[in-house]
Amino acid sequence: MPSHDPRRIVIFSGSGVSAESGLPTFRDSGGLWRQYAWEEVASPEGWRKHPGVVQAFYNERRHQAAEAQPNAAHRAIAELEKSFDVVVVTQNVDDLHERAGSTKVVHVHGELAFARGEHSGLRQRVGAAPIHMGQRCAQGSQLRPDIVWFGESVRHLEEARAYFSEAGRVLVVGTSLSVFPAASLVHAAPAAADKVVVAPELDSPPAGFDWMRGKATECVPQVVARWLREGAGASQGQPE
Ligand code: OAD
Repeated sequence: MPSHDPRRIVIFSGSGVSAESGLPTFRDSGGLWRQYAWEEVASPEGWRKHPGVVQAFYNERRHQAAEAQPNAAHRAIAELEKSFDVVVVTQNVDDLHERAGSTKVVHVHGELAFARGEHSGLRQRVGAAPIHMGQRCAQGSQLRPDIVWFGESVRHLEEARAYFSEAGRVLVVGTSLSVFPAASLVHAAPAAADKVVVAPELDSPPAGFDWMRGKATECVPQVVARWLREGAGASQGQPE
């Protein structure tokens, strides 16, 4: 088994990839955490204090995400599946990658389209519908958004790390890389892999990544076009 494989691509996305679809990021001006205190709406403490406020916050996010459409960056990423084995590891809770056509999407911070019983953990799809207080899972537990809140365990972390470590090409797009442990995944990418980060602003690009300083809808199609042109055999990294 090679430690990394030019046919394998990992995309690591954050809220910036959905910004041009009209969904807010978290930390930019106008970002969600500039308008809301995350402790109030994205923590177990906030849920215990005022669950109705938390439901309303995520009901609005779910409605907004359902109304949004995938953009050129989501669509270009999906196109890579024509020639590569692609895994999208996303911190996003929207489903725009799936709606653009990506078939393997790993949500490390949960998904708006699902609810789960607050005590049972039983998951169910809600799609675009709001979750109401008093709405319960099959085991009688209050339904809450199936989102990873601050202080809760990130999903699929070891699975995602394994994908990174085997990738011949890695594209990081639309994330400030400031929320851990998810942001630490980029360090699992092989040194020899072709690694690109797309963001208009960033404190500093992760070591070994080329930084394309621009918007997702402009830069991602360029990276994808190059990779499709090069084909699966010709990344910088070769199987060992
Ligand atoms: P941030 O708001 O921290 O970062 C968004 C990044 O996207 C920044 O680097 C922006 O420069 C960039 N950006 C903005 N517009 C862009 C565009 N059009 N094209 C490309 N990049 C653009 O959001 P995340 O990194 O996604 O977690 O935040 C990570 C986690 O923090 C989220 O998953 C969420 C939040 O708390 C939970 O809620 C658990």
